[in-house]
Amino acid sequence: MSKENDYLEINRQSWNNRTDTHLTSDFYDLDGFLKGNTSLNSIELDLLGDIKGKSVLHLQCHFGQDTISLARLGADATGIDLSDKAIESAKQIAKDSGTDAKFICSDVYDLPNHLHQQFDIVYTSYGTIGWLPDLDRWAKVIARFLKPGGKFVFVEFHPVVWMFDNDFEKVFYHYFNSGAIIETESGTYADKTADITQEYVTWNHGLSEIINSLIQNGLEINSLDEYDYSPYNCFNKTIEFEPKKFRIEHLGDKIPMVYSVVATKNQVSN
Ligand SMILES: C[S@@+](CC[C@H](N)C(=O)[O-])C[C@H]1O[C@@H](n2cnc3c(N)ncnc32)[C@H](O)[C@@H]1O
Repeated sequence: MSKENDYLEINRQSWNNRTDTHLTSDFYDLDGFLKGNTSLNSIELDLLGDIKGKSVLHLQCHFGQDTISLARLGADATGIDLSDKAIESAKQIAKDSGTDAKFICSDVYDLPNHLHQQFDIVYTSYGTIGWLPDLDRWAKVIARFLKPGGKFVFVEFHPVVWMFDNDFEKVFYHYFNSGAIIETESGTYADKTADITQEYVTWNHGLSEIINSLIQNGLEINSLDEYDYSPYNCFNKTIEFEPKKFRIEHLGDKIPMVYSVVATKNQVSN
């Protein structure tokens, strides 16, 4: 099987391989999280609004900090992720922190075979769609799991960021989806010097591809916003110009780093 066709297994191993390092990293600050810190940033907190009593499906939840943070805000939260190691850790952290967030190990596309309810909100954020080859299938899953009138909240790194080489010195990748990108990295964004190496398969997706996939699957776009900073220090050559706001030092505010979409599922849809 080609590496592109085997992307699910390669990426599952890749994320399983990162999980232990992430659990002990300063980046994810699990100790602080267990003491009650939220992992959610002001961008998504503002877009989510009051979620008390709402059912929330969190796609690509990694080891569950955001899902548990949603539950701490009073949501009935379910997180799903491809990595069995991440989901195992998520369940343990939920237990240790006394929250009843639920977790399911599944590929996004395969979720309709594992979950059968619909939700008030579908949420996904920061480092998600790059792992998926086909956004039409992604948007179909979002539409399938939203109640009619339900809200999709999406915050993601901007496709412009993925055009650059690791040090943001030159345009290296296509802005548009030009097929699978197969690479091997040492370390991880949460600990760049960690002694781990993993192969992975990703895809770049331009804004029109993203937005049209949602529109074509019955979602009405309520807002699209772009931000000239990242709330995470996960790139090289960054500067923290305000607390929890990072830019590429030599690019300053010249490029967008994050965008957000809020969309509503058509009331008459199934
Ligand atoms: C960057 S992380 C999630 C970001 C999240 N904001 C965080 O930092 O906790 C991306 C997650 O996507 C998951 N993932 C990758 N491909 C997937 C797929 N096809 N289906 C479900 N989850 C997938 C990975 O296992 C990983 O946990």
